[in-house]
Amino acid sequence: MTPEKKTIALLFGGRSAEHEISLLSAASIYSNLDKTKFEIISIFIDKKGNWRVVESPLLSPEKLNKGSSATFLPWDENRLSQPIEADIYFPVLHGPYGEDGTIQGLLEMADAPFVGASVTDSAIAMDKAMTKIIFKGKNLPVVRHLVIMEKDWKQNRENILGQIRKELPLPFFVKPACLGSSVGISKVKENSQIPAAVDEAFRYDRKILAEEGIQGRELECSVLGNDDPEASLPGEIIPFREFYDYDDKYNEGKTRFGIPAELTPSQTKEVQCLSVEAFKAIGCSGMARVDFLMDGKTEKIYVSEINTIPGFTEISMYPKLWEVSGLPFPHLLERLIQLGFERHEKKKRGREDYSR
Ligand SMILES: Nc1ncnc2c1ncn2[C@@H]1O[C@H](COP(=O)(O)OP(=O)(O)O)[C@@H](O)[C@H]1O
Ligand SMILES: [Mg+2]
Repeated sequence: MTPEKKTIALLFGGRSAEHEISLLSAASIYSNLDKTKFEIISIFIDKKGNWRVVESPLLSPEKLNKGSSATFLPWDENRLSQPIEADIYFPVLHGPYGEDGTIQGLLEMADAPFVGASVTDSAIAMDKAMTKIIFKGKNLPVVRHLVIMEKDWKQNRENILGQIRKELPLPFFVKPACLGSSVGISKVKENSQIPAAVDEAFRYDRKILAEEGIQGRELECSVLGNDDPEASLPGEIIPFREFYDYDDKYNEGKTRFGIPAELTPSQTKEVQCLSVEAFKAIGCSGMARVDFLMDGKTEKIYVSEINTIPGFTEISMYPKLWEVSGLPFPHLLERLIQLGFERHEKKKRGREDYSR
């Protein structure tokens, strides 16, 4: 007897700078989903935020953008004409309006099961300043940093410049709090570069971070699970450029990857333990990729950030690390879907108990 097929709605595209990466991630998820077990509904979200049910994420961007689109907003006249009958949603949306808790909130409101992190964990992970507060609270190693608000920068520029110079040795990094893909990030090597770096980061956010630069290695680790999360073998990113910037990530393709990373058994263990602790610290569920910086001299490992919808292309770290840890891509997807259902069921049970 074959168990009943589940219908998965893939949500992809989206309004962020990572729209194109989302198309690639969704295409590889689509290709790796076992079609004997799952029906797939493909929902493309265009750069303006309009939804369109399409044949599959394998279509070209031109085709994806063709035809009528609709909004999910109840007060808008231009609504989807046909209901979407999915058992579970899979947001494959990187960055703001997808990875930040907004779409997760919409799905929670609709009482729909979905894959990956929920509202609070997504929102915390999107905000690098908030993430660091929580990591520090849980005694996880984070780099020395300052959080700067735009209003303070405008009013007390000299004070803030003085504080940065006093507290952060060169080189250091300046970045927007809530973004991804290295957009708005600068490496500051001389004090004269500070104002331009700060202004650049404030183009994208009203809150930014200046953080000590760690010269050494960049490590990443995949985490999977709800209440008992597990970590994959760690991987390594070897950027071609000065740091892992936007061009290095998406345009040049010269970045090298260590899958798995060459580490001693105790370093591997340390990265895995820290990954699980970081995942638990923000109350994450489903999946996340935790990124690290390792000091080249001291070999101290710092937790850098946590990504709740990591890249899912055929060559992305998240699925690759699971593959080398013994979990092939199609099985990883099944597990993620199962975890999404489990979390939803648990929440529903809690609600029913409460309303009794
Ligand atoms: N404190 C730091 N020390 C060294 N390199 C850093 C630091 N912060 C950022 N970087 C470099 O910039 C890249 C992007 O920064 P990250 O904080 O990961 O932002 P994003 O969310 O855009 O990926 C990192 O992959 C790394 O190469
Ligand atoms: Mg990063």
